[in-house]
Amino acid sequence: YFDNGNQIFKDARKNHYAVGAYNTNNLEWTRSILRAAQETRTPVLIQVSTGAAKYMGGYKLVKDLVADTMDSMNISVPVVLNLDHGDYESAIECIKLGYSSVMFDGHKLETEENLAKTKEIIKLAHARGISVEAEIGKIGENQGAEGGELASVEDAKAFVAAGVDKLACGIGNIHGVYPADWKGLNFDRLKEIAEAVPETPLVLHGGSGIPREQVEKAISLGIAKININTEFQLAFQKATRDYILAGKDEDKNAKGYDPRKLLLPGAEAITDAMKEMISWMGTPSID
Ligand code: G3H
Ligand code: ZN
Repeated sequence: YFDNGNQIFKDARKNHYAVGAYNTNNLEWTRSILRAAQETRTPVLIQVSTGAAKYMGGYKLVKDLVADTMDSMNISVPVVLNLDHGDYESAIECIKLGYSSVMFDGHKLETEENLAKTKEIIKLAHARGISVEAEIGKIGENQGAEGGELASVEDAKAFVAAGVDKLACGIGNIHGVYPADWKGLNFDRLKEIAEAVPETPLVLHGGSGIPREQVEKAISLGIAKININTEFQLAFQKATRDYILAGKDEDKNAKGYDPRKLLLPGAEAITDAMKEMISWMGTPSID
């Protein structure tokens, strides 16, 4: 039902474009993401983090929600369903549930253990045709104590030799809103890694808020999947706030308090933001 994305992302790496990986948080997010993909006729990866899955009611509910929404919207573009930043147990759960892709995020483990666990996940996933993403180095967090750490070329080679389908690399990227004093992506390291693993789709986490020139340069060097979450949260927040500040939610005659009206500007803002990202990434339409 879901595409495992292997051909999609390999093609992206080979032909120097990227395909977006968008985090869902609820029904509105799911519909907005699928709508942008369908209207642009581009393949899409929808993903869920552990926190969002918990908020929504579990991994099974998320899978059913995405599948049923695809049906109800007659979605005809390929859709990959991915577990984002999963731990070992979550990855196994999502493999069993029929997600078409899982990210095992072992960045908190020692490299050897990260690699060993990644191998176990690969074995289980590949037996079912499911794609696996791993993380090397450390992707930074704008909140909390954890800073980023550059991924090494040796780790990239080892994880690719182990069979990962996509590789998320710490290259100075950060989750959440980028701080004003952010130093930018480390293109030298990205280039070294990309040369060492010339066919593997590389993943840019923390894709929200990176200037367009840097996004394009990263893609030209080997980034094939770009993860976007914060961008849509900000777009949703802004549109919803504007709606409320305009007093539209108080319009009793127009039933501005109805969630079907109240949540609409935010949902539309997500679709618009995603279309913009698709144009940055150069994702080609399917004929
Ligand atoms: O895995 C999710 C993404 O890396 C989200 O990054 O906070 O920049 O949207 P973001
Ligand atoms: Zn991430």
